[in-house]
Amino acid sequence: MNIIKVKDQAEGGKKAFELIQSAMKERNAKVLGLATGSSPITMYEEMVNSDVDFSDMVAINLDEYVGLSETDSQSYRVFMNENLFNKKPFKNSYVPNGMAENAEEECARYDSIIEENPIDLQILGIGTNGHIGFNEPGTPFDSLTRKVDLVESTIESNKRFFEKKEDVPTQAYSMGIGSILKAKEIVLVAYGESKVNALKGMIEGEITEDCPASALQKHPNVTVIADEAALSGLS
Ligand code: F6R
Repeated sequence: MNIIKVKDQAEGGKKAFELIQSAMKERNAKVLGLATGSSPITMYEEMVNSDVDFSDMVAINLDEYVGLSETDSQSYRVFMNENLFNKKPFKNSYVPNGMAENAEEECARYDSIIEENPIDLQILGIGTNGHIGFNEPGTPFDSLTRKVDLVESTIESNKRFFEKKEDVPTQAYSMGIGSILKAKEIVLVAYGESKVNALKGMIEGEITEDCPASALQKHPNVTVIADEAALSGLS
């Protein structure tokens, strides 16, 4: 794994965007895998404030809460529209449908989107428990899109985005670890002390389903962009 230490999240956003631009210019990247949450926000700001044109690009998001519609202000679809797509149009942008009536069909639909649009560069954040996407500890490394139960620590971490904890959905659709590992290139962004153990497990720990992000050790092209606090547990 390549590790880029940055002084703060603002610099991390710039670095991450530079990597996206290199992939576009030098490797003709056309498909970006994208994440929500607080970590990639500065990268989206850089994208929005740039003069780069994404109108021939495809974006495929990692996940969506089950039970939230695409107009619900807490949905990841609205998060992506507000932070990126409304300001920088893409040719197509995909987010799982949280209101799908048939979960199996929705997962199959999403997997075929990923198959038809192989991901050139996947952006990831990391959960304090080492999750990537909503692939919680115990997820098999060959998993595809599934409806998952969110674990208590994820609900606890994400309640900050909701009025009260009871409002946090308990399930989500998530792209699988198998699909994430198929991306040609992966860039993971992480900031702050709360990510210390997750980053240590991911970079130096045993490759184990107990730390989903440790699967990234198996991938040949991963760059981690993190601040000093998040990297402080590394030996
Ligand atoms: C979001 C996602 C999650 C987050 C992770 C970190 O689409 O897939 O894995 O990246 O929970 O979230 P933040 O950045 O809010 O700490």
